[in-house]
Amino acid sequence: PKITFIDAADVARTVEAEVGSTVMETAIRNGVPGIDAECGGACSCATCHVYVDEAWRAVVGEPEPMEEDMLDFAFDVRPNSRLSCQIRVRPELDGLVVRTPERQG
Ligand code: FES
Repeated sequence: PKITFIDAADVARTVEAEVGSTVMETAIRNGVPGIDAECGGACSCATCHVYVDEAWRAVVGEPEPMEEDMLDFAFDVRPNSRLSCQIRVRPELDGLVVRTPERQG
C-alpha cells in the first residue's frame, strides 16, 4: 500500500508501505521528515504525531485509550490527530494521506 505524507510546508511524499508495519516505521524507513519517533514505537513519546486526512479517518479508526492519553503531550492536537506508531498498515490503507505537524513535541 502507498502512503502519502504531506509536511507543514505542503510538500507531499508518497512511499510504499509494508503491510504489518506501522505508519511511523514507514516514514522512518523511507526518510520522510517530520516524524521523530523518539520512543521507537512504544506509544510513550508522542513525537510521531500525524493528522489523518479527513477522507481516511473512518478507515484508519480512532485511537486506543493509551494513545489518547499520550496524544495530550503532542503539539497542536486536533480531532484527526493520531500517533503514527499506533497505525498498523493494512491493505485497505492503500492511498492513505497523513499530514505531519509543524513540529513534534
Ligand atoms: Fe513514540 Fe509513537 S513513536 S509514541
